[in-house]
Amino acid sequence: MNIQTDFSLKNYNTFGIEAKAMQFTSVQNTEELIEVLQLNKDIFVLGGGSNMLLTQNINKLVVHINIKGISIFKENEDFVWVKANAGENWHEFVLWCIDHNYGGIENLSLIPGNVGTTPIQNIGAYGVEIKDMFSSCEAVNVTERTIKTFKKEDCNFGYRESVFKNELKNQYIITSVVFKLTKINHKTNSSYGAIEAELAQNNITSPTIKDISNAVIAIRKSKLPDPKVLGNSGSFFKNPIIPIELYKKTLLQYPEMPHYVVSETEVKVPAGWLIEQAGFKGKRFGDAGIHEKQALVLVNYGNATGEEIVTVSRNIQKAILDKYGISIDAEVNII
Ligand code: EPU
Repeated sequence: MNIQTDFSLKNYNTFGIEAKAMQFTSVQNTEELIEVLQLNKDIFVLGGGSNMLLTQNINKLVVHINIKGISIFKENEDFVWVKANAGENWHEFVLWCIDHNYGGIENLSLIPGNVGTTPIQNIGAYGVEIKDMFSSCEAVNVTERTIKTFKKEDCNFGYRESVFKNELKNQYIITSVVFKLTKINHKTNSSYGAIEAELAQNNITSPTIKDISNAVIAIRKSKLPDPKVLGNSGSFFKNPIIPIELYKKTLLQYPEMPHYVVSETEVKVPAGWLIEQAGFKGKRFGDAGIHEKQALVLVNYGNATGEEIVTVSRNIQKAILDKYGISIDAEVNII
C-alpha cells in the first residue's frame, strides 16, 4: 500500500478546489480496499470527485477508489447484464456500451464522475435515471469489511436519492455495479424537449442509441461547463419538490414559473429558473460564480475556495427563500 502525505486534491475534485489530504492512497481492487480498511479506521472515500465541494483539508486517509474493469455478467437474447467496476469513468463506460450496441444509458452521456458513485445519488438526465437500468451493486461494509450485494429494491432510489445517501450513509463502499441493458429493440427515450429539437435539427427521425448519445453530448456541451476548463460539480442544487398549495400561491405572483407534476400533491420547480429570476445567472463574486448558461451550476473561475463557493450558494438559497418562499437544497456534498 503506497500512502502519500500532504497530498493535493486539486486534480481529484471537478470543482478544482485546492485542499490537502493528510494521507492519500489509491486502491486497484476489492482486496486492497479491504486491506486498507483493516489497517485504518478513519478514512475518507474518494470516487470521481464530481459531486463534492471541499471546504477544508481532509485530516484523514483519503482512499481513492480506482478499481477498473468492465465485463459481461450474464446475457440472453434480448438483454445483457454488464458489470462495471467502481473506478471506471462513467462517460467512457457509456461510450463502451454504445460501441457494443447495448442500450439504456445513452441519455446519461457526458455526466462527469465514476461508475461507483452513480447509484449513490441516482444520477439522472434527459428523462432517464440510473435506477431504470440498475440491476445490482456490490459494496464493502466499512466496519465489518464484508462484501454485500444490493439489489435494486434494497437501494430506495428516489430523485437524486438512495439508501447510500441516507440510512446507510458512509457505511458501504460501492466496488461494482451491474446494469441491465438491451441488445435489441432498444427503447430510446427522446421525449425531453431539447433532445427532440437536437434530433430534428439533424433530420433524424428514428434515432439510434448513438444518435441519442450524440444529441445529449451536444446539448450538455452547449449548456454545461467542461470541468477541465471551468471547475464545477454539475447541478449544485436539487430541483425543489413543493406542495401544490405553495405552487398555486407562487403562481399567482409568478404565472410563468415552469413546473413538472410529481404527484397529486407535489410539483417540482426548476431551481435554475428560480436562480435566474432572482438575478444570479452569470454573476461572479471573486473566483466563485454562477454559470452564464445554466444557473443551477456554480463554477470556480480559478482559485475560489470551497468556503467562497458555499457563501455564494447560501446567498442564493436565502434570496430564493425570501423571494418565493421556496427552500432549495444542495445536491453536492459539502465537505
Ligand atoms: N432554466 C432557466 N434558467 C437556467 C436553467 C434552467 O430558466 O439557467 C429553466 C429551463 O428553461 C427549463 C428548466 O429550467 O425550463 C429546466 O432546465 P434544464 O432542462 O436545463 O434542466 P435542470 O432541471 O436545470 C436537470 C438536472 C441536470 C440534467 C438536466 C437535464 C437536477 C438537479 N439537474 O437540470 O443534471 O442534466 O435536468 O435532464 O435535476 C446534474 O445533476 O449535475 C445535472 C446537470
